[in-house]
Amino acid sequence: MDTKNLNSHFKVLAITHLLLHCANAVSTATKPDPDRGKGEWQLLLKNTGVVAMHMAVTHRNTVVMFDQMGSGRSGYRLRKRHDGTRCRNVRKDFNDSSCYAHSIEYDVLRNSIRPLNIETDTWCSSGSMLSNGTLIQTGGFGSGSRRIRYFKPCQNHHCDWREGRKLLSNERWYASSLKLPDKDDRVIVVGGRDVFTYEFVPKRSPSEKSFILPFLRKTYDRNEGGNNLYPIVHLSSDGHLFMFANRDSILFNYKRNRVVKKFPRIPGKGSRSYPSTGSSVILPLHYNDGFRKVEVMICGGSAAGAFSAAKQGRFLKGSRTCGRMVITGNNHKWKMENMPGPRLMHDMITLPTGHVLIINGAKNGCGGWNYASNPSLQPYLYNPKKMIGRRFTILKSTKIARMYHSSAVLLPDGRVLVGGSNPNNKYTFKNVPHPTELRLQAFVPPHVGKESNGRRPQNVSIYTSGNDEIVGYGGRFHVKFLLKTKLSKMLAFTAYASPFNTHSISMNQRMLVLRCKNIKRTKDGWLNALVEAPPSPKVAPSGYYMLTVLHNGIPSRSHWIKFTHT
Ligand SMILES: *[C@@H]1O[C@H](CO)[C@@H](O)[C@H](O)[C@H]1NC(C)=O
Ligand SMILES: *[C@@H]1O[C@H](CO)[C@@H](O)[C@H](O)[C@H]1NC(C)=O
Ligand SMILES: *[C@@H]1O[C@H](CO)[C@@H](O)[C@H](O)[C@H]1NC(C)=O
Repeated sequence: MDTKNLNSHFKVLAITHLLLHCANAVSTATKPDPDRGKGEWQLLLKNTGVVAMHMAVTHRNTVVMFDQMGSGRSGYRLRKRHDGTRCRNVRKDFNDSSCYAHSIEYDVLRNSIRPLNIETDTWCSSGSMLSNGTLIQTGGFGSGSRRIRYFKPCQNHHCDWREGRKLLSNERWYASSLKLPDKDDRVIVVGGRDVFTYEFVPKRSPSEKSFILPFLRKTYDRNEGGNNLYPIVHLSSDGHLFMFANRDSILFNYKRNRVVKKFPRIPGKGSRSYPSTGSSVILPLHYNDGFRKVEVMICGGSAAGAFSAAKQGRFLKGSRTCGRMVITGNNHKWKMENMPGPRLMHDMITLPTGHVLIINGAKNGCGGWNYASNPSLQPYLYNPKKMIGRRFTILKSTKIARMYHSSAVLLPDGRVLVGGSNPNNKYTFKNVPHPTELRLQAFVPPHVGKESNGRRPQNVSIYTSGNDEIVGYGGRFHVKFLLKTKLSKMLAFTAYASPFNTHSISMNQRMLVLRCKNIKRTKDGWLNALVEAPPSPKVAPSGYYMLTVLHNGIPSRSHWIKFTHT
């Protein structure tokens, strides 16, 4: 909508004098926080009907949410089943899962939901966005464990799930998905319960099967519920995959089915993978080293033995440590630091400011039905550039517990959507420690609230050389915006890949700080920056990204841009 043809744009836009310098610094690097706010919470909807066990933001500014079929009755009753037959008798249909929605689409602008149809069980499944913005969603439970589903986002509220005819080679329950940088637009799906393999979707030939990955077997802790499920998978800038499960990690060449490197074990006892659910991000990649340096951060998880203890009703205190390690180059060492408190089942989200938001989760126990206690109600904000010991800020508390089966995703308007939580087998609202949670909230991080509006870059639009919002690798595009304040050196442009979030894992999440080549002020007061797209799909796999302008650490609203193979 905000993207127009560059050529026609230049006809109307008289570019004049005043060549300004792009400062290209994410302001938080050197400047103290201009905003002392602790953020705020908004209650968006009182009842989404469906537990937001999984969430993903589409480039149509909608959010796909879904849980599972096996939960029976959700909070969203349907008039018709998927096959068209009527659901009439509330009493009779009471336990009939097909008379309830298990997926919804949330429209961010309208703050409304509509039901979607899922045919097979998506419980604890995985997903990625393809280059064209379609969500490819894989696996689940029972009838759904080998399914491949697609959701092609739309603006007209008519799109729905489509189940592919082809199946996964293996059943994948609690697996992870990652979009690969290759031109043929494939994803890799890794692991799952009792499945020590990975596979690609789609397959290059009918004979292509799954591939054994001994790392998954080695990290599997049978007595503790696995402790290596939903493995953490990040794409490194060298095209290899960083894989972390339990406490160990490798660099993996998926093209040759070869482990390139074994990284040192992360210090500390306990585990970081499901059910000992920790979370992870890669810190923002930066143009000033050619996007080469990749640093992984992993926070929280459960104490050793937490699963066995939880089965007996004892909820051990979780881990409060985070580890950071540079996975590129040749010197790999975990640098450890403490969070303000113990935490597990939380989500880690890289914000446009370059900070990491740690939100949701609990302090004790581990993942699984009623295996945790003591909800973590305070989000933490982490500034990776500050001195160790000064990096964490405690933000405003929520009153709503977000335990097992909760989720969080970053919206283009800078807020973080928070939904779900259901540590119970079925939808249960009474007489349990942590009832099924159907309220939808947004957390407004510092700098995103109204109080910063006067200093926010406004009216942002993107101009590419083509007819749409598409830019080739290494290509350039213009970003036009308004500032109510004087332009300072603290100007930056970031791009964020929208992840698929479930079980504390934000699959495909990555943020890039892009190079600004120059910036001009036009006669009528607009700023017009020339910005460079990432150099390759290894840095930024092809697809839609949220582009944000930051001035003095205040982010604009984000606008979708697509980086792609030319
Ligand atoms: C629904 O299932 C529960 C147990 O799963 C049972 O107690 C209840 O009677 C069922 N309700 C109806 C209306 O069939
Ligand atoms: C994107 O690609 C997938 C897989 O090829 C296809 O199923 C889907 O329809 C495409 N979506 C759009 C928006 O073209
Ligand atoms: C900037 O955006 C606001 C709100 O969308 C709009 O009212 C205003 O007219 C825009 N300003 C310019 C100069 O286009």
